[in-house]
Amino acid sequence: MKILVIGNGGREHALAWKLIQSPRVEKVYVAPGNAGTAYEHGLENIPITAISELIDFARKENVAYTVVGPEAPLADGVVDAFHSAGLKIFGPTRNAAQLEISKRFAKDFMRRHNIPTASYSTFTDAEAAHQYIEQHGTPIVIKASGLAAGKGVFVAYTPEEAHSAVDQILITKHFGEAGSEVIIEAFVQGTEVSFIVMCDGQHVLPLATSQDHKRLNDGDSGPNTGGMGAYSPTPFITPGLHAQIMREIIYPTVQGMAKEGVQYCGFLYAGLIISPENQINVLEFNCRMGDPETQPILMRLKSDFSMLIEHALDSTLDQTETEWDRRTALCVVLAADGYPDNPRKGDIIEGLPELMAKQHNTDDFHIFHSGTALNGNNDQQELITAGGRILCVTALGDSLKLAQQHAYEHAEQIHFNNAHMRHDIGYHGIDFIHKV
Ligand code: GLY
Repeated sequence: MKILVIGNGGREHALAWKLIQSPRVEKVYVAPGNAGTAYEHGLENIPITAISELIDFARKENVAYTVVGPEAPLADGVVDAFHSAGLKIFGPTRNAAQLEISKRFAKDFMRRHNIPTASYSTFTDAEAAHQYIEQHGTPIVIKASGLAAGKGVFVAYTPEEAHSAVDQILITKHFGEAGSEVIIEAFVQGTEVSFIVMCDGQHVLPLATSQDHKRLNDGDSGPNTGGMGAYSPTPFITPGLHAQIMREIIYPTVQGMAKEGVQYCGFLYAGLIISPENQINVLEFNCRMGDPETQPILMRLKSDFSMLIEHALDSTLDQTETEWDRRTALCVVLAADGYPDNPRKGDIIEGLPELMAKQHNTDDFHIFHSGTALNGNNDQQELITAGGRILCVTALGDSLKLAQQHAYEHAEQIHFNNAHMRHDIGYHGIDFIHKV
């Protein structure tokens, strides 16, 4: 069968790479894809993004089903449009994706359904927001309500930072329409983890746990990004906490949506914070898999991913289970100079000579591409930077420490102008393991 994956990042490279491993899958189209998906065996890039063209393509090629990677097409209603056209697609409808599209919706929803989350207020008026900050003090969290590619969240430690965040969102419109409303919420101390499940509207299948590193620089400093590296599984989520997360957060969310008349089908990503006393709060919901969390999670998946998605589409997720590699997977993101604000594009990437030989990876190591493109003609093609996050070097190891060493050994071989990576991905988990 043939499958279509929508998107062009590292997450979509990993989704397509995992799907093509199934003996049942003959080809995975990636629309529009990147240089990595262009060269991966069994994948083919399709240079389209318009929903009507995606529908025409899926029909013409007799695609068995489509998988949506990023949030933007969900917000544009790609799932609703495919359903209207009678085509199978895995992802939430626009209504269901409100959990990610509007942080205001998500916070109000959690309040309605007693799902634990930090206390908050919402504002469209900057003056009122500034007054609220004066009353509540810092640290405090300021968020643009709409979609901002993971960059619209500010953890403000001083009043100046908090006021500046409000002005960037509401006054200078740094995030455009996504910033027409601001959420100001209490700062909660703890450890951030990512908890991702598949939902079929009636059943839930949890995927392996993971932890992202959202800040640009080592030691969790610098601005927030889409994610600079991740690993799976995370030792912070013990079996007891796993059960607690399912009971207090995941089931009430899917059931709460159903009570409000919305069937949730698709990946559901709960960004959580675990306090030292093991209280769990939801920081955010995403209606898709995480990037880069997908890369280490799928590196460990031993089950046939195409079958899992078919079960989800048939509402039979209760009849399947997942099998995971017992090793740890860890990924390191290489980002462009200027990321996240103003990434520089067009730099030549060196250190991946095997790319052109189409066999640049082994079973325990894979380079997933994000913002890459090919420059030149077929005889002489150069790999160049074409986005903010460029590559995601992912490796398996018998322990978190060994997975970290393995990923960095490969990441350090890759070069482009002012390439930026963090040097401490996995450090929270490594410190935690050594403390216990
Ligand atoms: N890595 C965070 C996200 O995908 O939103």
